[in-house]
Amino acid sequence: PLVSMTEMLNKAVEGKYAVGQFNLNNLEFTQAILQAAQEENSPVILGVSEGAARYMGGFKFVVAMVKALMEEYRITVPVAIHLDHGSTFEKCVEAMYAGFTSVMIDGSHHRLAENIALTKKVVDVAHALGVSVEAELGRIGGQEDDLIVEDADAMYAIPSECEQLVRETGVDCFAPALGSVHGPYKGKPNLGFERMEEIMKLTGVPLVLHGGTGIPTEDIQKAISLGTAKINVNTENQMASAAAVRKILAEKPDLYDPRKYLGPARDAIKETVKAKMREFGSSNRA
Ligand code: G3H
Ligand code: ZN
Repeated sequence: PLVSMTEMLNKAVEGKYAVGQFNLNNLEFTQAILQAAQEENSPVILGVSEGAARYMGGFKFVVAMVKALMEEYRITVPVAIHLDHGSTFEKCVEAMYAGFTSVMIDGSHHRLAENIALTKKVVDVAHALGVSVEAELGRIGGQEDDLIVEDADAMYAIPSECEQLVRETGVDCFAPALGSVHGPYKGKPNLGFERMEEIMKLTGVPLVLHGGTGIPTEDIQKAISLGTAKINVNTENQMASAAAVRKILAEKPDLYDPRKYLGPARDAIKETVKAKMREFGSSNRA
């Protein structure tokens, strides 16, 4: 069923595992991620950035596509459709109106007071509709669609500010930037685990780890043990699908039927997602 993230994340904290947010880019991503979740018997969060929604045909189209596929595949595991890095109050409301069951309001580029005020405004509307909300503090480096943060501007979240934001807004989960990066890492990730632990203790809400691509398994496990219940992955699926397309087109230069190269891309995404679900411990937790 289509649900908010609230219950699946609270269960994840309790069971010491994390639910993956896998971003949608097109039809094949949506098919692959839903099938992977069902086959792994895992809860799943479908992340949709504003840029990806625009590419696919808008929020309403994305919701209709997800619902139709869930019916076609007889999906029984919990699925959330989540706006990833929502940029404004208006975008969040538009997503909720279209049927999204969850939204992230990314006010991390604002000053604390503005971030809190904006997040609170989104929470008030969302909770009246049974929609869950994720907020962010600090700055996650790298690039995702329209969102670019230079390395020099990447910032670790400050625990006392995190406590204040969560307390004053009532968000359902929270993404403190602690050194993770969107896209591939240059070198080894250097995650702020001490702050992560402190922030979990101070806020008491499930934590979210953005930039899940390229984080070593031991760091994933450590993050989960410190209260991380949601891990976002996009680039890794993009790379796997692009590699599959490159390989088949190189092998068969005469190939032109999109189903013949997008089918293998879809298979690659599905395998990548299944492996992540096992790594995050969400398999057989639906
Ligand atoms: O919000 C989406 C994620 O943080 C994706 O990060 O593309 O590095 O896996 P990634
Ligand atoms: Zn992100």
